[in-house]
Amino acid sequence: MPTVNDIRSTFLNYFQKNGHAVVQSSPLVPRNDPTLMFVNSGMVQFKNVFTGVEHRDYSRATTAQKCVRAGGKHNDLDNVGYTARHHTFFEMMGNFSFGDYFKEQAIPFAWEMVTKELDIPADKLLVTVYHTDDEAADLWKKVAGLPDDRIIRIATDDNFWMMGPTGPCGPSSEIFFDHGDHIWGGPPGSPDEDGDRFVEIWNIVFMQHERFEDGSQSDLPHPSIDTGMGIERVAALLQGTNDNYATDLMRSLILASAEATSSDPDGPGSVHHRVIADHLRSTSFLMADGVMPSNDGRGYVLRRIMRRAMRHAHLLGAKDPVMYRLVPALVRQMGAAYPELGRAQALIEETLRLEETRFKQTLDRGLKLLDDELAGLPGDANLPGEAAFKLYDTYGFPLDLTQDALREKGRAVDTDGFDKAMAEQKAKARAAWSGSGETADATVWFDVADEHGATDFLGYETETAEGQIVAIVEGGALIDKAGKGATVQIALNQTPFYGESGGQVGDTGVLKTDTGTATITDTKKTAGVFIHMAEVTEGEIASGEPAMLEVDHTRRTAIRANHSATHLLHEALRETLGDHVAQRGSLNAQDRLRFDFSHAKALTVEEMAKVERDVNAFIRQNAPVETRIMAPDDAREIGAQALFGEKYGDEVRVVSMGMQPGSGKGADKATYSLELCGGTHVKQTGDIGAFVTVADSASSAGVRRIEALTGQAALDYLAGQGERLAEAASVLKSGVAEVPERVKALLEERKALQAEVAQLRREVAMSGGGQAAPEAKDVNGVPFLAQVLTGVTGKDLPPLVDEHKTRLGTGAVLLIADTGGKAAVAAGVTDDLKDRISAVDLVRAAVEKLGGKGGGGRPDMAQGGGPDATAADAAIAAAEIVLGEK
Ligand code: ALA
Repeated sequence: MPTVNDIRSTFLNYFQKNGHAVVQSSPLVPRNDPTLMFVNSGMVQFKNVFTGVEHRDYSRATTAQKCVRAGGKHNDLDNVGYTARHHTFFEMMGNFSFGDYFKEQAIPFAWEMVTKELDIPADKLLVTVYHTDDEAADLWKKVAGLPDDRIIRIATDDNFWMMGPTGPCGPSSEIFFDHGDHIWGGPPGSPDEDGDRFVEIWNIVFMQHERFEDGSQSDLPHPSIDTGMGIERVAALLQGTNDNYATDLMRSLILASAEATSSDPDGPGSVHHRVIADHLRSTSFLMADGVMPSNDGRGYVLRRIMRRAMRHAHLLGAKDPVMYRLVPALVRQMGAAYPELGRAQALIEETLRLEETRFKQTLDRGLKLLDDELAGLPGDANLPGEAAFKLYDTYGFPLDLTQDALREKGRAVDTDGFDKAMAEQKAKARAAWSGSGETADATVWFDVADEHGATDFLGYETETAEGQIVAIVEGGALIDKAGKGATVQIALNQTPFYGESGGQVGDTGVLKTDTGTATITDTKKTAGVFIHMAEVTEGEIASGEPAMLEVDHTRRTAIRANHSATHLLHEALRETLGDHVAQRGSLNAQDRLRFDFSHAKALTVEEMAKVERDVNAFIRQNAPVETRIMAPDDAREIGAQALFGEKYGDEVRVVSMGMQPGSGKGADKATYSLELCGGTHVKQTGDIGAFVTVADSASSAGVRRIEALTGQAALDYLAGQGERLAEAASVLKSGVAEVPERVKALLEERKALQAEVAQLRREVAMSGGGQAAPEAKDVNGVPFLAQVLTGVTGKDLPPLVDEHKTRLGTGAVLLIADTGGKAAVAAGVTDDLKDRISAVDLVRAAVEKLGGKGGGGRPDMAQGGGPDATAADAAIAAAEIVLGEK
């Protein structure tokens, strides 16, 4: 009996043998289709290849594609567990032709695959074709020898396949397996077709058209083939059952669930095990592709699936979290075909455990409230919307969980009442917010958030993706279109552009639609909406259009390196300076990083060198950078650095990088840096390239600021420093290594020369500076020597005054230095006279004439200055008068 894994290999090998490239499943979050919540069929990743927009180097392909149908257009969530064939997650096998072969070869391939490779008896098979498709009907007759009554013509949409409201589409032909008349049901197209007897196993779509927003249709450049075979149902029939949950793969998950909850896999709780087995697959695969539980968009669909599974585990009597314990069983079954599952195992387990632990805290109380409400209701009345809303709002019950709980009791929810209660709450939140004084510009974004929800951020995983434009804003008001030259703000349902936050700058890049192009100059975030600052450079951009978004890769790469380096720097500072180091602010831009932290004094040269060395050592370690989602308390418990005073939500993203040297392996290894962070990071620390600090300054009291560079910028900076050093060496005519010694020697030489010059100047001045010293004249019986000097400075005057005093023996001296317009004055009085005459009085009188103020010193020596050296003679005369009065 072939296992699911055997069947997958058989399928892919067969088509590979027939010239098809085996292509990896695309991630579950569609990159190239903004209208899709999750990839729901094999052709999604080839959508643009069918329409001719994209070219690949093969024209035939085969895949096993992960699909999720929960939320959005194709939503099977409500039925899972209760039927034999509904899943939120399933695998679709397919073969594709992009303008290569068409019906004439697709039908023989399918027939050979089914009847020869998979060995399904031909007499148990029948097919459908679109009612007008004679060509396909004829081929089935010719290739498979099927009689007319087993080629059923269907006139409905069942045989016309469309991926969504727009995109490639075409008539289809389906292969059905007849499980036999012991099971109720009629052939396709009959009134009993919903029974389980006839099961569709393969859908072959003859892709011929492309459908557009306005309902119009055009022909594809080349007729193509898209097929889809659900591996679960084929496995069921090959394993002799018509229940997908009885196949080897699903059964092993059900057994794991039964073991973890110590319950009977086939007892009254069998529905619960089926729900758990299915939801384990969808939640784990979604997380492996980067979706994390949240209260919006894809993240909320994930959370709803998780909580639904958790309620079913609860119904099995599980006291402790269950789902995370089943992940190893899933990885055993599917990890080989989908390696991403194993890579994300730790993240999946931790996230499931966290979600389940938290939800358990309110689940009991919520279920009790539900029972109480129901007890108070008559007969089979619907649960009032308000009660369902309370369960949602207070106890975290998604609406579909409440509906699922009621389903067993044959009741439903008044969904209108629920919607009304939800709308009222939003209005209240809105009113509270409008009162908080935000600008009109921000108000419009709250309206957008109300109507379209938060933007789904895809930028952790990808730098290019399609999004659908949900709003264009110009000057604070919504507009429908923006033409060439307009500067507007654009929001989309999803985006790879990072919105400025947590110190990381917003992304820039390009936005393109069928009708126009815009340059994105920055991205911000308000009310959960990512706002793209756009300049329309070509054509016209219109709201509602799908748009291709491409982040400036080089810039983002540099930002990533800087952000990751900031984390390493933070830790290196803590290790070097102590635990008091806490982040006070940061900037992670494309050209540099800046980090502010609490520390009272400048780093010493040795400290700075150690920090740089440590950061670079962890860069060279090239350890993977890992991201996990945790409860804030758990994150703190494992020592994650959080921003002081910052408010965190129920869950936080924890980024870890680097391993402590000498620490153990695996679970014992000690992570070097562990921080709460929403930013984008490098994959391996080696991607940072290099790290160099360029400035260390005080940012405010007790806060230091380090600026640094990474990658090429760091290398360019170091090269620049090297060039300047080489230039200095060449000017000094020395080797680079001798530059410091040579500079030191030059500085010492300069100091000695300066001293010599001062001495010479004094000597020159003493010798009169070429100006002969005048004779002292007698004023009021006191010898008075006064002189105006040029070529000396104010500093030279006191020693000169002293020398004149010594030479006179008794008397007063007044010297004025004309320093090129301004004047400096010094006066001296010999000791025998200083009780009678004060040098200070002489200087003050002179200074006043020189246009200055004050002057001071001691009675035997005083100094001053003024702006007007032309008044030097008047100044001397004024001093003489003072002397005459003594
Ligand atoms: N795209 C087709 C389907 O999903 C094959 O059924």
